[in-house]
Amino acid sequence: MPALPAHLDRDVALARDRANPLRDRRDLFLLPEGTVYLDGNSLGALPRAVPERLQETVTAEWGRDLISSWNTADWINLPRRVGARIGGILGVSGEDVWVSDSTSVSLFKTMVAACRLRPGRRAIVLERATFPTDGYIAASVARMLDLELRWCDSADPVAAIDEDAALVSLTHVDFRTGEMLDLPGVTRAAHDAGALVLWDLCHSTGAVPVDLVGPGVDFAVGCTYKYLNGGPGSPAFMYVAPRLQADLDQPLSGWMGHARPFDMELGYEPVAGVGRLASGTPPVLALSALEAALGVFEGVDPAELRAASLSLTDYFIELVDVRLGGALEVVTPREHARRGSQVSLRHPDAYGIVQALLARRVVGDFRTPDVARFGFAPLYVTHADVYDAVDHLVAVMAEEEFRRPEYATRNVVT
Ligand SMILES: Cc1ncc(COP(=O)(O)O)c(C=O)c1O
Repeated sequence: MPALPAHLDRDVALARDRANPLRDRRDLFLLPEGTVYLDGNSLGALPRAVPERLQETVTAEWGRDLISSWNTADWINLPRRVGARIGGILGVSGEDVWVSDSTSVSLFKTMVAACRLRPGRRAIVLERATFPTDGYIAASVARMLDLELRWCDSADPVAAIDEDAALVSLTHVDFRTGEMLDLPGVTRAAHDAGALVLWDLCHSTGAVPVDLVGPGVDFAVGCTYKYLNGGPGSPAFMYVAPRLQADLDQPLSGWMGHARPFDMELGYEPVAGVGRLASGTPPVLALSALEAALGVFEGVDPAELRAASLSLTDYFIELVDVRLGGALEVVTPREHARRGSQVSLRHPDAYGIVQALLARRVVGDFRTPDVARFGFAPLYVTHADVYDAVDHLVAVMAEEEFRRPEYATRNVVT
């Protein structure tokens, strides 16, 4: 095997970690010793502050103070409070963000609300490579509102946008390839045609800073269990541009979105602002965990976050190129402007490769049909992790460990 170029050495990786201005953030997480965790793009690691906060919420707020905690612990305002924190990470006003439901439900609410703001227009445009739930929800919205579901190609989404488009709904960073779309450019083209835009930021927020205000994005939705580390099934956020909020008519108009829920009136009168996106009682335990988790982002400079992410993915790609010499295809774009915070490698035995790495305590995941995905959460993944992960990958490929019979059957969750 050719010698590794000096600049890719593990010592150089360690030096880069020492020079990272965000290096101390890793201590804010509880990470298992000896594991290289490259799956923060599926489930973020556990921030240290969460167990204590959950303990407090369960034993003191729920156990001792019981129902009075809706007022005394301000449970009722958790969706707004958590929304305000996420607004800080998104670079928008906290008043424009609401957190309450799963990503899928949040997509449903915002897609319907957007289409209702463009009556007379006939199409919802979304890309074929979208995350399945976005497509399934859009199909149902199209059936419900009698609209056309129009698929576009993510290489050129603008080609499918015309005067008939009510909504263009796209994923900013592709879950399979890690490719990042041109958010300002597509938003501009959609607006030029009179359509509204909705961006799914699941694979961006917390790792890839996005400017929503400059390009005038109308809606954004994103999960909080990936790079925001809110825990399994933590609720998603919805962003709505302030200019659209007064006319927002969302389809799940429950009592929590009413202007005066405890007046128990017969007629529905939505509260002003994004609070009208609420439907039912907020998930207090999940929101409490999420609120504590978001503390790890306090004071983080988005430019430093992006620089750390790109440095990690650059290093991973270069090591794979040099040490694996094309045995796995790097699917993720190499240009920074088109890359999120993950690197995807294509190989016919990708499932077995991911399992063999898992046995070596290097955690990535598999996406059908042939992609091994590695996510680089910039607050806790180090260059040394990257070096070690590729070292294990080299061993897995050299010994063909992915061929072991136990990897022939897929788990339910891959
Ligand atoms: C781009 C994208 N959208 C939506 C979802 C999932 O939605 P939900 O939170 O409703 O499961 C995911 C989950 O991985 C995703 O990657």
